Parts: sequence; structure tokens; C-alpha cells
Amino acid sequence: MNTNVKSRGAENFDLREILLKNRKLNLSARAKFFESFINKLKDNEEHQHFRIIDSPASREVKVWDEYSKVFRKMIMFGSNNYLDMANNSYVIEKTKKYLDIYGAGMAGPPVLNGYTKIHKELEQRIAAFKGSEDALIFSSGYSANLGIAQSILTQNDLLYCDEFCHASFTDGLKQNNINPIKFEHNNTHQLKDLLENKSNGFQDRFIAIEGVYSMNGDIAPMDEIIKLKNKYNGIVILDDAHGTGVLGKTGRGTCEEFNLEGKIDIIMGTFSKAFGMAGGFVASSNEIINYMRYFARSYMFSAAMPNSTIASLLACLDILENDNERINDLKINIKYAEQKLRSIGFDINANTPIIPISVPAYMNIRKMARDLQKMNIFVNSIEFPAVPVSKQCFRISLMSSHTKDDIDMLAEAFATLWHKYSLKDN
Ligand SMILES: Cc1ncc(COP(=O)(O)O)c(C=O)c1O
Repeated sequence: MNTNVKSRGAENFDLREILLKNRKLNLSARAKFFESFINKLKDNEEHQHFRIIDSPASREVKVWDEYSKVFRKMIMFGSNNYLDMANNSYVIEKTKKYLDIYGAGMAGPPVLNGYTKIHKELEQRIAAFKGSEDALIFSSGYSANLGIAQSILTQNDLLYCDEFCHASFTDGLKQNNINPIKFEHNNTHQLKDLLENKSNGFQDRFIAIEGVYSMNGDIAPMDEIIKLKNKYNGIVILDDAHGTGVLGKTGRGTCEEFNLEGKIDIIMGTFSKAFGMAGGFVASSNEIINYMRYFARSYMFSAAMPNSTIASLLACLDILENDNERINDLKINIKYAEQKLRSIGFDINANTPIIPISVPAYMNIRKMARDLQKMNIFVNSIEFPAVPVSKQCFRISLMSSHTKDDIDMLAEAFATLWHKYSLKDN
């Protein structure tokens, strides 16, 4: 089975575009139209989004099954909580301790209200973790990417952007009227040709990539990217949302994996993946970070992250800085899952915890997703209209705490469903 998922990331789709195509609907009509679409899915037990979880986010979660009206204990294969730190006891203890010292929140933006010592500590420690001089903490990865477009890029620059770059980045570009020159996913030959085309009258040339691509789970060809950066004097913007905590010997991310620490100009990341929390950051030189403090509007005009989250993130850093066990376990699980899925016929190469499994157009992905739920396996299905029917897939996300039995169960479920849904009458 070929499981290549070569579509634009589901994150880059805009449901409104699809809803409004060839239709002129006012808000009420739009909302009704969409509700009837969702209700039809629910009538067929084919709607699995916004599932209610009544337990901590961990390897096993207690999930409300709105169709069977029961709570299910499900194995979580649909979370970015790759290192299972979201519910870690040390993280919780440290968070409680800091809550007592600093209280829960800051209630305003750092530029006016100030921020706590632990906010500053997190900036400095995340900068060091990423091999940069300084860092800026945003309330989400989304706003970190918006902030880059708002402050770093201008219409006088040239931006070369991998076609699979995340919606948060491309939304920032749209918001700031920056027209990227897109290159095919991971195609550095095409990028080279584009860079070779001399364009005069522009200030800087930026190259925007992700370390680990969020939908495909594949890794940017950093060896080639760095050569092009050096040859063409480019400035690289690396979204390391899914690389941080995952790649490199100690989880420092894509730069550690490729021995490029300190060599990438602007690194963006999120705390919503391997850190298991929420928030985002940009790490770069002192100069660029100071500049961003005043020009990234999503930072300037937004409240500081709650103290409790900052405390949790510091605890996660303590763990990452002192112990590679989780990262090693995750790597073992990635290879075990690859081997299991290959043994049942899926043609996959897994180097990261994100494993997409393409679902052929003739198979009913929504019914398969419901079956997976009944088998107590929590996996995300990426369905039409988020992607074209031919590009639908399941996106498996692995965690360091998954056991071999969990992965065996996952593989068995997929084998059973592939057999069932290959039959014509399903
Ligand atoms: C590659 C990438 N960048 C940025 C983001 C945005 O991060 P957050 O969810 O923390 O806002 C995501 C989240 O899905 C992502 O996958």
C-alpha cells in the first residue's frame, strides 16, 4: 500500500472558501447550511471532531462516545503530546509550587504590564535550548508565526516558502500582503532554480521551511537548505513546532539533528506539541528578538502567558535538559510502529512520530474512523472537505509512553479495517 500523502496540509484549507464557493449566503444561511452538513454526519455516526475527554491527556484517555453514550478508555494516537509530559507528576508539582509564588495569571501584555521572573527565565532557557541568543514567548504557536510575518517580513523582501508551510505562517503572510514564492514540498532543486533567478530591488531573501512537516511527518532536507542559505545569502525561518523535543539526540530539534545549532537565523516553535502545553516562541539573535518585541503585533497587543503554564514549561525543560529517556523511547516506538505497519502492507517510512496513512478514495474514511473509535483507538482522520477525497488520510501520532502492545493493537485495527473496507459493499 502506498501511503504517500502529497497534498497541501489540511491546516492550509479554509472551510469558508469551500462553503462560499459559488454561493452568496448571509451569516444565518451559512450557519444553517453548515449545521445541516454536520448534523448529517452525526446522523450517520460519522462526526468524530471535538471529542470530550474526561481524564488527563496521556497515553490512555477517557473519551465520551456521543453515539454509544458511554465513556471509552482509548489509547491516544491522535495527540502531539509526543513525550507524554502534559500530565507528568513533576510538571504538576512544579506548577503548583509556582502558582503559590506568582499566582495564576498576568492579565496583560508584557510591554505594559510587565512579566514575571519565570517568564524571563523561560525566554532565556528556551533560547539556550535552541542554540540562539534570545527568545520571545507568544501565547500560541499560531501567534508566533503571525508575529514573524508582521515584524520580520516586508513587501520589499523575497520569501521562498515550502508549499506545505503551516496555515499560521501563510495566514500571517496574507494578513501582511506578502506574496510568497512557493516551491514544491522539500524540492531543493526547484528552490535553487528560484534563488538563481536574480531579482533586483529587493532587500532580503528569506527561506521558510518546517523542520518536521505537520501533516506528512517528513523532515526538511536541512543539509541542502543550509548550502542554499549560504550560497545565496538567505535568511532561514524554521518552524520547528514538531521537531522540538523530537529530533536530535537531546530533543533540541531539527538544528541539533543536522548539527546546525546556532546556524539558523530564526527558529519558531510551539509548546503545544512535545511540551504538551500551549504557547509558542521565536528564538533568534538579541537584535532580532528585541526588534520583534516592538514590531510583532501578536506579541505587543496580547497578554503574557499565564504563570501556571510558564511554570509547567520550565518543568518540561528541566526534564528535557536532564533526561533523554523519553526521546529515546519515542524513537524506539517510531521504528517499532514503522516495522509493524510495514509488516501488514503499509508502504511507510517513519522518522518522526507523525505517520500519515493514505486512505484510497473508494474507502469510507468516516466509517473507518468510527470503527477505530469503537476499537478504542483515538486517531485523527483528515477528511474531505479539509483535503480532496483522493488525499484523505489517517494521521497517527506516537508517544514515548506507548507500549508495544498499544502499537500492536493499532496495527491490528488498521489491518482489520483495511480488509473490511477493501470489500466492495463497504
Ligand atoms: C507546523 C506548525 N506550526 C505552527 C503551529 C501552531 O501552533 P499552536 O497550535 O501552538 O498555535 C502548528 C500547530 O498545529 C504547526 O503544526
